[in-house]
Amino acid sequence: MSKYLLIACVVAGLTGALAKPASAKDKEGRYVIAMSQCNLNEPWRIQMNADIKRAAEKYKDKLVVVYKDAQADSLRQRAQVEEFLIAGVDLLIISPFEAVPLTEPVAKAFKKVPVIVLDRRVMGDQYTQFIGADNKKIGKFAGQWIAQTLGGKGKVVELKGMMTSVPAQDRNSGFREGIKGSGLEVLFDVDYSWMEENARKEMESALSRFPKIDLVYAHNDPGAHGAYLAAKAAGREKQMLFVGIDALPQEGVAYVKQGILAASFQYPTGGDVAIEQALKILGGDKVPKEITLGSRIFTSKNVDKGGDEL
Ligand code: FRU
Repeated sequence: MSKYLLIACVVAGLTGALAKPASAKDKEGRYVIAMSQCNLNEPWRIQMNADIKRAAEKYKDKLVVVYKDAQADSLRQRAQVEEFLIAGVDLLIISPFEAVPLTEPVAKAFKKVPVIVLDRRVMGDQYTQFIGADNKKIGKFAGQWIAQTLGGKGKVVELKGMMTSVPAQDRNSGFREGIKGSGLEVLFDVDYSWMEENARKEMESALSRFPKIDLVYAHNDPGAHGAYLAAKAAGREKQMLFVGIDALPQEGVAYVKQGILAASFQYPTGGDVAIEQALKILGGDKVPKEITLGSRIFTSKNVDKGGDEL
């Protein structure tokens, strides 16, 4: 073989290897799917992993899922994505903590394996598929529902989930669009990083500053519940309404049933959908770049019949 032919073969071999890595299948010949969860300290994320686990059980002869929890730290999540790739996986599912810091690690991973981005977006389009509900739509619907429920006027507190994550940005901009033209006044808005404890503290300061608050719109149910607890401690919980997002049966929906929340909007985890899509991708099927999950509203009026579709 000539020297040039040899070089050409080596180069072709290398690029081939880069474009299509050898499968990382385990000893039993099952696909290895990596799940990078940004935080497991919240009921909704525990539910997401449980949904993935339940769906994966159905295909246990075909795939195995390995999990990592980044504990609400973008740098840790970035390192964990790299660890997965070094160990060798067939596909990555990631629910990124923050959009910008995880964009590059996701793009790097996508050069090697298919990547499903779940619930929180990254920037750009360097991934195989995004799965999540439409947060802008949920925020807008929440704004319209709140404006209508308050009769077109009133003083509102907006507790914003972490604004470096896209769901919070969309739940904020959608909400502002939904209340546009109404007489609602947003007295106070603040970032509480999605955490109930922070929401409670922020609400304490809102309560001390504003003698009249008609409603609290929080970007998730833990936030709405934290605000409720602060208002309750101040003896003011009956003077205002609380609205949240997620509507897990054991959390937001239960709060609506108990009369703690006036409304909760469902935000499906998409964990089961991610497994179904992962199997399609690994089987060589073409999948849509984006899957938009539906949502429902739960209020005291419709909670017993399972809420209403948005
Ligand atoms: C959990 C969570 C949910 C929320 C989602 C948005 O981390 O805050 O409550 O709906 O993330 O990405």
